[in-house]
Amino acid sequence: MSHERLPNDGFRREVLIPKEEIAQRVRELGEQISRDYEGRKPVLVGILKGSFIFLADLLRELDPNLQAEIDFMAVSSYGSKQESSRQPKIGKDLNTDIEGRHVIVVEDIVDTGYSFKVLLDILKARNPASLKTCALVSKPDRREVEVPIDYLGFTIKDVWVEGYGLDTNQDNRGLKDIVFRTV
Ligand code: PRP
Repeated sequence: MSHERLPNDGFRREVLIPKEEIAQRVRELGEQISRDYEGRKPVLVGILKGSFIFLADLLRELDPNLQAEIDFMAVSSYGSKQESSRQPKIGKDLNTDIEGRHVIVVEDIVDTGYSFKVLLDILKARNPASLKTCALVSKPDRREVEVPIDYLGFTIKDVWVEGYGLDTNQDNRGLKDIVFRTV
């Protein structure tokens, strides 16, 4: 079990998903993707900022023979609030031409679903050979638009989570476990 160092900011927190469980699940996702994409050299598209730690770990769990590439897009819906704007803003686009490529979009969390929806519409229009989605965490109780998640780490209840890339107003992305505030 983890012994997380937590910030002294007056909030009490509990661990929702300890780092060992995250690591195990990321390993399993890596194995699954490696099997599914054998011989196809996928492009993993990490959605900044939240996905950067998950993407880094997932990439290292892939079979090196895949020769997977990475690129990033930046999308932001939440800003400094804990409520989605429902109008995700694209802050950075890909450098890679994905036409004819096998693309896997990698998110840290799917909440309302708006970010994935907007991204998938944009990426589909660029004619990739295939387009799949991978998310570490999903909160199905919060979904407002249906989006496919082809590779999913964990389904969680409707609590505000931090850590492993997930932030509150840019803070706490570096926590090793995924935690939630109890007060
Ligand atoms: C978070 C998260 C997803 C999105 C999910 O990003 O990283 O991109 O919200 O929420 P949704 O399903 O309701 O659209 P955020 O706007 O917090 O930006 P960040 O990744 O830079 O923290």
